[in-house]
Amino acid sequence: MNKEPLLQVKNLKKHFPVKRGFFNQVVGQIRAVDGISFDLHQGECLGLVGESGSGKTTVGRTILRALSPTDGQVLFRSDDQSYDLATATEDTLRPLRKHMQMIFQDPYSSLNPRMTVFDIIGEPLLVNGVSDRSEREQRVQELIIQVGLKPEHIRRYPHAFSGGQRQRIGIARALALHPKLIVADEPVSALDVSVQAQVLNLLQELQSTFQLTYLFIAHDLNVVGHISDRIAVMYAGKLVELGTTDELFRQPKHPYTEALLAAVPVPEPRKSRNRALLSGEVADPANLPSGCVFHPRCPYVEDRCKTEVPKFREIATGHLARCHLAE
Ligand SMILES: Nc1ncnc2c1ncn2[C@@H]1O[C@H](COP(=O)(O)OP(=O)(O)OP(=O)(O)O)[C@@H](O)[C@H]1O
Ligand code: SF4
Ligand SMILES: [Mg+2]
Repeated sequence: MNKEPLLQVKNLKKHFPVKRGFFNQVVGQIRAVDGISFDLHQGECLGLVGESGSGKTTVGRTILRALSPTDGQVLFRSDDQSYDLATATEDTLRPLRKHMQMIFQDPYSSLNPRMTVFDIIGEPLLVNGVSDRSEREQRVQELIIQVGLKPEHIRRYPHAFSGGQRQRIGIARALALHPKLIVADEPVSALDVSVQAQVLNLLQELQSTFQLTYLFIAHDLNVVGHISDRIAVMYAGKLVELGTTDELFRQPKHPYTEALLAAVPVPEPRKSRNRALLSGEVADPANLPSGCVFHPRCPYVEDRCKTEVPKFREIATGHLARCHLAE
């Protein structure tokens, strides 16, 4: 692993204004992402997990500057230079964009139904200057094979494919320009369980073949655990835990992680985890609870949790948690 991280996210925030009334007055803020920091090394897969509405997609889109951050830094290393994507101008971003790609959740709506597989996968090549058609064809053929599709698929339209195959097309498109960083946003969540494993395995193979770096987003800790070296757990716009996959599964330090783990099926039922499942609603990012944002749902809540905000701090080497009782 390279020593300098490929990506350093520092105190990243994305707030959306809440507008009301005839004059569209701003009456509040949705704190979708509220001060997130992590590093991502080249060749690493960092999982980002949390319930629906916790802010995962907003993190991914803000890092890739599909959304402009409200605050914070997104330092991206390319050709031995560091760029702050959070504040970079469009002129600076343009040549960097090909190094950062996204794989989307829904393989049915993310592919243009009127484009052939050749056009879908070849488009980023065309946009980035591969104007020779036969050169594009050759590259698209290579990509199709790499993602486990067949050469004859190249002339077909998305509707001719299954969900898993469509996701393979989306992956091939994302890989077309040899990206350094891939943000995969729930890439298998819309697929049948049997197909999920195949696509996860493909992503893993591609990662080791091309030294890819993934930010892998999912709501299912089991899926994230499959592919990630480290896992970041997100709740109401903040990270509540970050550690290696192994440590997080063996010794979760935050009650929220513990609750997510309780939902993961265990191979040996006799060893079943004797932990509470999550109850209550995920916190509203427009109206966050005081103190620890998790306190209304936490089975270990104490008085101070309602007023004191816990710090995100290192509990063991490389293992961070945001809970008063984490030690
Ligand atoms: N463009 C937007 N305008 C206003 N609020 C938004 C916008 N995008 C997201 N939000 C809000 O920000 C919060 C986080 O949304 P986000 O989509 O990032 O969550 P998520 O963790 O990806 O959820 P899911 O698992 O459902 O995909 C939600 O409360 C959402 O309603
Ligand atoms: S700080 Fe308190 S409420 Fe928050 S997770 Fe820890 S024990 Fe639960
Ligand atoms: Mg999402």
